[in-house]
Amino acid sequence: MKKLPYKKYLAGSAKVLQKSKSEKKKYAVEILGRKFVVYPNVFSPKYYLDTEFFARELPINKGEEFLEIGPGIGATVVFAVLRGAKNVTAIDINPDAAANTKENVQINGVEDKVTVLQGDIYEPLTPNSKFDTIYWNTPFGYIDKNQEISDLEKAVFDPGYKATHRFVSQARKHLKKDGRLLIGFSTTLGKFDILQTFLEEAGFTVRLVTKEESREIYPVYFEIFEAVVSN
Ligand SMILES: C[S@@+](CC[C@H](N)C(=O)[O-])C[C@H]1O[C@@H](n2cnc3c(N)ncnc32)[C@H](O)[C@@H]1O
Repeated sequence: MKKLPYKKYLAGSAKVLQKSKSEKKKYAVEILGRKFVVYPNVFSPKYYLDTEFFARELPINKGEEFLEIGPGIGATVVFAVLRGAKNVTAIDINPDAAANTKENVQINGVEDKVTVLQGDIYEPLTPNSKFDTIYWNTPFGYIDKNQEISDLEKAVFDPGYKATHRFVSQARKHLKKDGRLLIGFSTTLGKFDILQTFLEEAGFTVRLVTKEESREIYPVYFEIFEAVVSN
């Protein structure tokens, strides 16, 4: 795939976000044969195709305790439970996303195994909460570190990768021994070299689990990476 200048990819993501803002009311979508609702102001799988890829391909281990940062509408939360996670905790900074996840968890009948919280990455957790897997489909659009952005924009862009850095650098405190990070990413829409540096600095070894060619205005790749503690 021919790589375009990075600003073209950023403009493409912004255009998709703008389109998604035309939705003013809650609406229904189907993901992998299950029904979900989408609230306006929440990252929408109707407009962004990565949700379905990650929901389909994320390797869930039976019986694991799973933390998802940034569940958006909560599709991955539901599929993690259906594929055998013992329990799922989900934390989104966007209050509409937290409410949207709660509704989809109920629609899909998995509320007994799910806790949904609102806040910034690990901030709502007690210091001793630990998980087998921590997952985030990160906002991989890299923009200037001083840019102020809305809750919805935070789903797609991360100024200076400051949130991504906190996610990686504080992860070990909330991982059990032999736990892992799963990261939904795009090496075309995001800056993988920066993510890799954060992971190395925090003592993780990273490997590609799977990738898919997709389209978001322009052809792009989506990838799932797994990172485990290396020292
Ligand atoms: C790319 S979207 C992914 C949504 C969903 N997991 C999916 O795949 O459809 C990123 C999500 O992270 C959330 N988010 C952004 N910054 C965050 C932060 N600092 N703490 C928690 N969640 C955050 C956004 O609100 C959004 O729901």
